[in-house]
Amino acid sequence: MATDIREIDTGTGFDRFARGWHCLGLAEDFRDGRPHAVDAFGTRLVVFADAGGELRVLDGYCRHMGADLGAGTLRDGRVACPFHGWQWDGGTGRCAVVPYAKRTPKLARTRTWHNAEINGQLLVWHDHEQDPPPPDLLPPAIDGFAEGRWSEWAWRSELITGSHCREIVDNNVDMAHFFYIHHAYPTYFKNVLDGQTATQLMHSKAREDIFGDSPYYHPDSLLRSEATYFGPAYMINWLHNDLGDGTTIEVVLTNAHYPVTQDSFVLQWGVAVAALPGAGPGQTRALARAFSAKFSEGFLEDVEVWRHKTRIDNPLLTEEDGPVYQQRRWYEQFYLDKSEVTADMTARYESEIDVRHARREWDAEIQRNLLERR
Ligand code: FES
Ligand SMILES: [Fe+2]
Repeated sequence: MATDIREIDTGTGFDRFARGWHCLGLAEDFRDGRPHAVDAFGTRLVVFADAGGELRVLDGYCRHMGADLGAGTLRDGRVACPFHGWQWDGGTGRCAVVPYAKRTPKLARTRTWHNAEINGQLLVWHDHEQDPPPPDLLPPAIDGFAEGRWSEWAWRSELITGSHCREIVDNNVDMAHFFYIHHAYPTYFKNVLDGQTATQLMHSKAREDIFGDSPYYHPDSLLRSEATYFGPAYMINWLHNDLGDGTTIEVVLTNAHYPVTQDSFVLQWGVAVAALPGAGPGQTRALARAFSAKFSEGFLEDVEVWRHKTRIDNPLLTEEDGPVYQQRRWYEQFYLDKSEVTADMTARYESEIDVRHARREWDAEIQRNLLERR
């Protein structure tokens, strides 16, 4: 009887949602004078702008009889329920007025969600222990964004069903999939886990056998990428695109998600390009859209894999695979009570992959593919 068969452990999954800041989308999209329902964290939220233009997030189900506040209207900066007209204040969570009633039950409150606007995006804080966000955990403002040194975001979002959002976070340490899925090959790959951040540093080149015929292909082009997860669900990725002709295009990518249920999440990605010398805002915006189309292809290639893969808690790894287990340990901290988080989940951990062997094999594969085509 064979005893060396390795079985897949699909694990038990999580029974709660991660603690941290989650991006719900571009802030401006919520400022259109109506309330928005957002399905997230196993429940429904309502997002709207109050009378002062500040974005507010409340539990989406009305505490009177449970109707969907996202289908309501705005009255004096409060959200009015479509069912019986109760008006809820976004700042306090209290019912301000029941138009038809002599007495308004002002003591009962609905839940308010901490939110923040950063980089033109709306972020909401989730914590199963219901504590407010520590100020130092807010993701950073992108240098120059508020000053208009970047194009506006080319923004996309996609509901992914049948997968837990841990799949996309695993990508952060996965060097080899860039070759097979994204048609790039890494020439340098390093991860740094530290506290509540997880960083990926990568240099990569485009595969000549795939992109060689493109007018944009240059053998000396190099993508230098620095990507950091600030908490479990919000990544900023700085991308320095050396085109090979001496010019560099600076791109910043937001890669963010929020869970809808334990096996679905909304993936969002936005691309902005630094203003180019001599180029007008229209040209820069067009370039951002072109990069966005490229990254969209990449994300959708990942999505296609997630759609068909199984959850695996015991991946079988080689030396060239990144620190999947360490990063999952880091990721676990967001699912525990704060008092249960242990030092090994937050300790600084660095690992650089020796890419020399992979590069020799990949170069040979690319040459074989090019020869076959001739
Ligand atoms: S259910 Fe909202 S007012 Fe009645
Ligand atoms: Fe990927």
